[in-house]
Amino acid sequence: MRIVLLGAPGAGKGTQAKKLIDKYQIPQISTGDILRQNVTNGTPLGKEAKSYMDKGELVPDRVVLGLVEDRVKRDDCKKGYILDGFPRNTAQAEALDKILESLGIPLTAALSVDVPKDNLMKRLTGRRTCKKCQQMYNIYFSPPKKEGVCDKCGGALFQRDDDKEETIKRRLDVYDAQTAPLIDYYKKGGILKSVTGVGGIDEIFKKVCEEITK
Ligand code: AP5
Ligand code: MG
Repeated sequence: MRIVLLGAPGAGKGTQAKKLIDKYQIPQISTGDILRQNVTNGTPLGKEAKSYMDKGELVPDRVVLGLVEDRVKRDDCKKGYILDGFPRNTAQAEALDKILESLGIPLTAALSVDVPKDNLMKRLTGRRTCKKCQQMYNIYFSPPKKEGVCDKCGGALFQRDDDKEETIKRRLDVYDAQTAPLIDYYKKGGILKSVTGVGGIDEIFKKVCEEITK
């Protein structure tokens, strides 16, 4: 199973990916998470990426492509993987197809998680993530039992730097202009599937599993 999760910022790609890891025992490759890790560690790549991420713009293709190419070639990807937040534009999608063609293992599906725009702002401004185990919460929809503390591991919760209203607006515009066209790209490629990402997380997960195993 080699799948791409498509969807606007806040659609629930990361939330669903975490559940797919548990069920199918395959890794999640989130370019956003890898970039944020580099920012936290203060690497040269992180320093370059931060200036784009803070504005809600895409990080240059050459930076993310190198990361993904290295990652999909690792041993733990032999059983499959979930690409989350990559590709983000047509150039990245074409480059990914070339890499996978050269490896002889094409994508099995691109799953679009569709959520109306009106739902996204609150999901993003309310998101909190555990520093230690990366579990996600939402102060409006799925708050932790104790404010600021992870239910699972007791780690401290943080808010992402790009989850500010102005940056979110820019991320949503960038999604419309650069990432939404990928829905058509994968439709033409014959591997597009979609689910509505509104409702309970478990209920959505059931539909996600049905679609990707069809
Ligand atoms: P990235 O980290 O990929 O962010 P994103 O695409 O903006 O998506 P999010 O992570 O914000 O949303 P999500 O769909 O994962 O939602 P989540 O599950 O967290 O990218 C960040 C930045 O990195 C980019 O702006 C760019 O600068 C750079 N970047 C990354 N990849 C790149 C690439 N390939 N090329 C260039 N640049 C790149 O859920 C959100 C919230 O909603 C949570 O609080 C969650 O609890 C809640 N929630 C989830 N499901 C539900 C539900 N069913 N009902 C109610 N609430 C829900
Ligand atoms: Mg995410």
